[in-house]
Amino acid sequence: MSRREACRGAWVRVRDLTVRLGGQCILQELSCDVEPGQVVALVGPSGTGKSTLLRALAGLVPAAGGQVELRAAVSGRQARVAVMFQEPRLLPWLRVAGNVAFGLTGTALPEPERERRVQEALEAVGLADRAQAWPRELSGGMAQRAALARALVRRPDLLLLDEPFSAVDALTRMHLQDHLLAVWARHGFSAVLVTHDVDEAAYLADRIYVLAGCPAAVRHQVTVDVPRPRDRGDPRLAALRARLLALLAQAYDRPAASAAAPVGEARPSSRIGDDRHDDHIPAGAAVPPFGTRVGRAGRAVRRESL
Ligand SMILES: Nc1ncnc2c1ncn2[C@@H]1O[C@H](COP(=O)(O)OP(=O)(O)OP(=O)(O)O)[C@@H](O)[C@H]1O
Ligand SMILES: [Mg+2]
Repeated sequence: MSRREACRGAWVRVRDLTVRLGGQCILQELSCDVEPGQVVALVGPSGTGKSTLLRALAGLVPAAGGQVELRAAVSGRQARVAVMFQEPRLLPWLRVAGNVAFGLTGTALPEPERERRVQEALEAVGLADRAQAWPRELSGGMAQRAALARALVRRPDLLLLDEPFSAVDALTRMHLQDHLLAVWARHGFSAVLVTHDVDEAAYLADRIYVLAGCPAAVRHQVTVDVPRPRDRGDPRLAALRARLLALLAQAYDRPAASAAAPVGEARPSSRIGDDRHDDHIPAGAAVPPFGTRVGRAGRAVRRESL
């Protein structure tokens, strides 16, 4: 499928989203956007609500308030969404091709078209020659690629990825990231990626949202204006990495590992939007120029561009 034939992605508009789970407010008045064909990364402390936001985008958890709007960029219909999780979750009793075809469950495609799509998805992730393999015969990286193929076979407008490469070694992870970018460039879907890896966020994303607080909301938004293909050694990405580490350190209420600043007094992480903490940049961190600050008092979102 050429880029021209491709779906061109989805618009995502999240406005003042509130999600409650088990009687607890997890997300409160959270707003964010994804433009067609854009890769957006979500970073933030463990337990903040990143996966919850992803599940809300997939329609797997209900909103207690606010809106989530998903539209296919080209046709304006409801966007097709596919999800890829941290573990491949392949079914051990199905071969690789069968696992990929499983992604088409519930669709009414004629058999030849199903087979064509499965083949196309396997080729996209470089697994065409392993179609008849069993999941147990795959390496971790191959299993993740099979899971990516299972997501792609639906031809999603929006691909949601929850720490998809966190269980593999550093080199395999880099290969998988490049695979994802190659497939993304070809298919043109929009993607939302949850990651704890600031290098991964900087390398892959067009925009990065930093979630923090309890309940969580978007506290920072960073636009990454570094053209692709990106060089992993690009000093702009190194600066962004340092900036993200500083923001995450604030979110975790402690300085970044590279920071000379002493550990501050413990305070609620919901105050990361507080101006005083926004201006606290750990020593040694290269800081890109700031953009405009927007948002209501107490729920400020800081926007930056790189
Ligand atoms: N089904 C549920 N019922 C009640 N609470 C839940 C449920 N799912 C998640 N939570 C709570 O919501 C909060 C956010 O969880 P979530 O999994 O979204 O965090 P996260 O940012 O993805 O964390 P991590 O980085 O560790 O994956 C946590 O406090 C978690 O305990
Ligand atoms: Mg999570």
